[in-house]
Amino acid sequence: MTPLLIATRNAHKVGEIQAILGDGFACRALLKEFPAAPIAIEDADTFAGNALKKAESLSGWLAGLSPAERRGLGAAQTFILADDSGLEVDALGGAPGVHSARFAAMDSGHEGNSPDADNNAKLLRLLADVPQAKRTARFRCVLALVEVNRAVPVLTPQLFEGACEGWIDLAPRGSGGFGYDPLFIPLGHDKSFAELGESVKNGLSHRAKALAKLREWFSGGSD
Ligand code: IMP
Repeated sequence: MTPLLIATRNAHKVGEIQAILGDGFACRALLKEFPAAPIAIEDADTFAGNALKKAESLSGWLAGLSPAERRGLGAAQTFILADDSGLEVDALGGAPGVHSARFAAMDSGHEGNSPDADNNAKLLRLLADVPQAKRTARFRCVLALVEVNRAVPVLTPQLFEGACEGWIDLAPRGSGGFGYDPLFIPLGHDKSFAELGESVKNGLSHRAKALAKLREWFSGGSD
C-alpha cells in the first residue's frame, strides 16, 4: 500500500482522490494529520506551478519537523501529492482558471477562497448573455508528486495532468460534489457533475484522468 499525504485542506478532493485510487493507496489528509502545516500561497499563473508550490512547501515544512512530529512520514518512502485544479470557460478567455477557488472574492478584494455558491453565482452572471453553444468549458487538474524529504532525495517532482470537457448550464443542478459541479455538464451527458454522482464523476473527471497517469507511473516503478 503506497502512503500519500494529500496536500490540500479540501476534504472533497481527498475523498475523490482516495475513491479513484482505491485500495492500493492510503491517502492521508493534511487537515487531520498536520493541521499546523502552513497554507501555500498560490500565486503561480499555471496549475502546474501552483501544484508544485503546494507539494514542495509542504515537503520543506515536514523536513523541519522531528521524526516524532512527522508521524511516521519519511521513515519509509512516502509521497506528498498536491492537486491544483479549476475551471476554464472559453467565453471568458479561460477564466476563472487558476483563480477558480477565489473567483468571487477577487471582486471584493477579500483574502482567501470564496464560498462555492458565490463563485457559481458570479459565473452565471458573467455568462448571462452567452448562448448554450458558446458556454463550452473544461475542468483541468494538475497533480504534483514529491517525495517527503529524505537525506538523499531520489525522486524529481512528477506532474500529471487531466482535463474534462463540457459546458456550463444556465442554473445550478444537483447536490453532489463540490465547487462548480452543479453547473458543469460533462460532454456526452445531460446532467451536471453534482447530479451524476460520485461514481460517474470519478470515472470521467479531470482528476480521474490525472490520477490514472499517476497510477500508471507507480505501476511502472517509482524508485
Ligand atoms: P484549488 O484548491 O486551488 O486547486 O482550487 C480548485 C477550485 O477549482 C475549487 O475550489 C473549485 O472551485 C474548482 N474545482 C476544482 N476541481 C473541481 C471539481 O472537481 N469540481 C468542481 N469544482 C472544482
